[in-house]
Amino acid sequence: MSATESNESAWEAAYLRFETPEEEVRKFLRRLRKLGAESWPKDAQVVELFCGRGNGLNALQHLGFTRLEGVDLSAALVAKYTGPAKCVVADCRQLPFPAASRDIAIVQGGLHHLPELPGDLERVVGEVHRVLRPGGRFMVVEPWWTPFLRFAHWVGGFRVARRAWAKLDALETMTELELTTYEQWLRQPDAVLRCLEDNFATERKFIGWGKLMWVGRRNAERGFRNAELGGGTQPPTAKATGAGVSS
Ligand SMILES: C[S@@+](CC[C@H](N)C(=O)[O-])C[C@H]1O[C@@H](n2cnc3c(N)ncnc32)[C@H](O)[C@@H]1O
Repeated sequence: MSATESNESAWEAAYLRFETPEEEVRKFLRRLRKLGAESWPKDAQVVELFCGRGNGLNALQHLGFTRLEGVDLSAALVAKYTGPAKCVVADCRQLPFPAASRDIAIVQGGLHHLPELPGDLERVVGEVHRVLRPGGRFMVVEPWWTPFLRFAHWVGGFRVARRAWAKLDALETMTELELTTYEQWLRQPDAVLRCLEDNFATERKFIGWGKLMWVGRRNAERGFRNAELGGGTQPPTAKATGAGVSS
């Protein structure tokens, strides 16, 4: 086994012990509800990107969504999913779907694994823009450098705390193994938001408790800021203008 493969399987082992599947589904349900998913059409074609072992798909199924797909690079994690969604092993920087063929794309905790920022992020966002139908939704939940996250990592710096709390140890282990991409991601909040908001009209945005939670609607063309949106696209809601932002 190469050093990279052993790092990957150590990371996957820590990820699997971080939360039980039931805890994960509950977490995903909370996020989906907060971002308005209960009002989205249940027959929408939804793709969960970076889907891992598929508990995000299980949460979507629980909410009544019927046309589900998942994409992840890890065959081992995808193999753990047993639900009805069609899951493919692929790189989200090159999605295996035709243009304008899906209604909703979701990423939860995947973008901060991309090796090259902002280039890889632009690739994924460009691919999502390509495969979504006009007006389609892109939901993103990723770590964000808030006071809570700073505190969590400060506590995680104490070996005694890690020994006492297995979940914290799993989180810190994952963080150590993905440190380069994780830190790179946390250091570039402006570039990340610019990339998302240049290509999608922000519908909801919350920042707090160590997370960015965001939903955007697909603009007619790439490269337009929300402020420049004209007719033919969904106008941003009050939340898009910052009313929903907390930190
Ligand atoms: C932190 S896990 C998140 C999994 C799931 N979204 C969750 O929250 O449980 C990150 C996932 O991204 C996947 N991944 C990393 N780079 C990828 C890429 N370029 N394309 C597709 N999946 C990727 C990994 O295999 C891993 O399953």
